[in-house]
Amino acid sequence: MLIETNGLSKFYQHKDGLIEAIKEIDLGFEQGDFVTITGPSGSGKTTLLLLLAGLIRPTTGTIKFHQYHLHSASDNELAGIRSKHIGFIMQNFSLIPYLSVLNNVLIPLSLIQNREKTRNDYAIHLLQKIGLKDRMNHLPKELSAGQQQRVAIARALVNKPDLILADEPTGNLDPELSVEILEVLKKINIENQITIAMVTHSPTASKYGNIRIHIDKGSIVN
Ligand SMILES: Nc1ncnc2c1ncn2[C@@H]1O[C@H](COP(=O)(O)OP(=O)(O)OP(=O)(O)O)[C@@H](O)[C@H]1O
Ligand SMILES: [Mg+2]
Repeated sequence: MLIETNGLSKFYQHKDGLIEAIKEIDLGFEQGDFVTITGPSGSGKTTLLLLLAGLIRPTTGTIKFHQYHLHSASDNELAGIRSKHIGFIMQNFSLIPYLSVLNNVLIPLSLIQNREKTRNDYAIHLLQKIGLKDRMNHLPKELSAGQQQRVAIARALVNKPDLILADEPTGNLDPELSVEILEVLKKINIENQITIAMVTHSPTASKYGNIRIHIDKGSIVN
């Protein structure tokens, strides 16, 4: 099992009261699974992704990822685990607007690869993989929305993650571009056996999952 949760709960303490965002979730994914997570707004989907990423800590319950215990790891350990194993793709691309496509991919690579030539070669390899090598000198605003999202995918791949967490990666895209992005994700899932956990509102997108999770009010429902 790549990732396994037991009795996972996350409550937010808010001045208006306690919010039970995730309640007693048990799940397990294997390396190579494509997991889709659907559910109404406010049901806890983003919270679940943040927990799986080790970006927030559970209130109760456990999360095992590889041999690590994310629920009890220190901040430093969590940062190390993330940089070694996890890639993120968010809805709004979060590309740096004044940097070229190539530099947007190079920035996170510079944190993990010291050799400039190796770095450049690998960034170009990733851009080729997502079909944007010929756009590497463009600025994000000179790309279509789908192309920008593909750059965000390339950037999520730089640390050769075994888990990619994607929060509505097609949320800002029209149906055609959505399919384009979903196909890229499917390709990296199949070719590299990268596990994907993807939050989506779209029924079309959720069909890409071999495991489909539906959340309501913080609990898994079928
Ligand atoms: N930092 C926080 N502090 C307090 N409450 C929070 C916090 N983050 C989220 N919540 C609450 O937790 C619940 C779950 O939020 P979450 O963002 O996980 O929902 P979601 O399923 O991702 O919704 P959406 O589809 O709208 O993105 C919501 O009721 C939300 O208001
Ligand atoms: Mg959300």
